[in-house]
Amino acid sequence: TPGTTPQAPLLGFAAVATSTGDDIVVPSGYTAKVMYRWGDALFNDSPAWKGDASESGLEQARQAGDNNDGMHFFPFTVAGRQSSTEGLLVMNHEYCNYEYLFKPAAGGAVNTFLEPWTADKVLKAQNAHGISVVHVKKVGGVWQVQVGSSYNRRLTGNSPMTLSGPAAGHALVKTAADATGSAVLGTLNNCANGFTPWGTYLTCEENVNGYFGTAAAFTADALQSRYGLSAGGFGYRWHEHDPRFDLNATPNEPNRFGWVVEIDPFDASSTPKKRTALGRFKHENACLVVAKNGKVVVYLGDDERYEYIYKFVSDGVYNPSNPAASRDLLDAGKLYVAQFTAGASTGDFAGVGQWVLLDKAANATLAADARFADQAEVLIKARQAADAVGATKMDRPEWISKHPASGEIYCTLTNNSSRTAGQADDANPRASNRWGQIVRWREAGGDHTALSFDWDLFVLAGNPIAYPDRTDLKSGSANVTAANTFNSPDGMAFDADGRLWIQTDGNFSNAGNYAGQGNNQMLCADPATKEIRRFLTGPSGCEITGLSFTPDSTTMFINVQHPGEASDHPRRPATLLAGQSMEDYLARNPLAFSRWPDNGAGGRPRSATVVITKNDGGKIGS
Ligand code: FEO
Ligand code: CA
Ligand code: CA
Ligand code: CA
Repeated sequence: TPGTTPQAPLLGFAAVATSTGDDIVVPSGYTAKVMYRWGDALFNDSPAWKGDASESGLEQARQAGDNNDGMHFFPFTVAGRQSSTEGLLVMNHEYCNYEYLFKPAAGGAVNTFLEPWTADKVLKAQNAHGISVVHVKKVGGVWQVQVGSSYNRRLTGNSPMTLSGPAAGHALVKTAADATGSAVLGTLNNCANGFTPWGTYLTCEENVNGYFGTAAAFTADALQSRYGLSAGGFGYRWHEHDPRFDLNATPNEPNRFGWVVEIDPFDASSTPKKRTALGRFKHENACLVVAKNGKVVVYLGDDERYEYIYKFVSDGVYNPSNPAASRDLLDAGKLYVAQFTAGASTGDFAGVGQWVLLDKAANATLAADARFADQAEVLIKARQAADAVGATKMDRPEWISKHPASGEIYCTLTNNSSRTAGQADDANPRASNRWGQIVRWREAGGDHTALSFDWDLFVLAGNPIAYPDRTDLKSGSANVTAANTFNSPDGMAFDADGRLWIQTDGNFSNAGNYAGQGNNQMLCADPATKEIRRFLTGPSGCEITGLSFTPDSTTMFINVQHPGEASDHPRRPATLLAGQSMEDYLARNPLAFSRWPDNGAGGRPRSATVVITKNDGGKIGS
């Protein structure tokens, strides 16, 4: 405003160098402290972490889950104000790493932690997935888990949930065990997240196809094939002991996963709702915006190569004076999918776009397509509906976030090494895209319900160390330098002041195309100047993900996911591990070896939530 001094530069910290070490590094003047690790206690009856992974399936259900991912801090309201020292931290547990989850059998030469393969191992893996609701409080200046709080909750791959919205009760979501098509067990592969202004958490089911398999003959139909179902799955082997995950025994069970799930973290007895109006695909996160007209808009990415960006617009409007009345706004609305086109000129990494309605009655293409008998089938088969209307195939859409002041929307496109030169377009401009990019768009008239937008690339990540010729797209856009180079942007969110935080889940080999990029990391960008500065580096083999702030921005929570995972880990436990012992695995992948965060106690690293504070008590990044 006139008369005031200009705002200080957004980025007030000194950049950290890349790292190939096995620890977290933050800028001078900051502290990073581990708070909540896989296996930690949450309840008064939680068994103490044993360290050798000998916990049973039921014991795992009473401990912190594995692979902490997206999360959100819900502050308590104290005397009418939002607390920045106490609240509920709600987080996803995306998957598990069998090489660390199970105790190796004594004396076995190979597969010592997979054999014998038992029903309890399946249960333990299912219970390592899901959600934690964690009551956290700053006590004596240190954030602590309030073990035994009545708010604390674990949801797992077996917790009762309700399928709601237009696809609930449809024939494609009914099973022998659930004739209603609405009583589902479990949430899985909870990747990133969202939150609503009425105080609920949104968890997003991503690579759910990997949990299903069958020992019998199996030929995928068109729907199963489009969603990646196969007899082997990702090697989780759940179907060997749980017929719910056998594609022949329970063929509709996969249709009950791949949704956005809404959870009330303040009511530990509430039943989560899978919101089918938001479509079924490999959901990354859910960025919720209340539009000018009060409608609720949710931006959604489908994270796989050549998949799409969607948005949901509610039929009803949000009433801030009566949040409770908004509880089911996500059950009715319109689902759109994005087309990104080059606009007036090609090759300038900018253009225009439109949102195409996926509606059986209103979209002529879908109305004429026999694959979709009704709108429920459009939602269950959202990928096929999006194919039919010609949506733009993107380089793996990951997190989406709204700039707090401008309303501009940013989306990470993490990488797509499969894209060919002939498939390159203005928004996905590189063949063999190993580094990824961030696209941003402005809805027409600043209205988030609008059907058209213009877009540009905020950054084309790249490696100017490996590719010093700056005319080579592999070196990245001008705001990528030898000092801040990174690959595979994934987690991403704005803080209240408009700093853009970027987290990576990429290749940490530090060689070849990735030379000089080191371990996965978190960077901070100024959207106005486009400067990007590295804020944090993580331990070996991890990705950095999940970010949330206290209302005063003086505490930042992040997650360190899968420390010690090999760079070539296909996230397919049994196929990777067939014939290997953990010792073989680690010997073959020395870069993956991690002793973080407990100096290797029990021979295994642990995913963990980390609290970042500024030593002078200031805002993070300032
Ligand atoms: Fe679970 Fe797309 O990251
Ligand atoms: Ca263009
Ligand atoms: Ca992710
Ligand atoms: Ca990821």
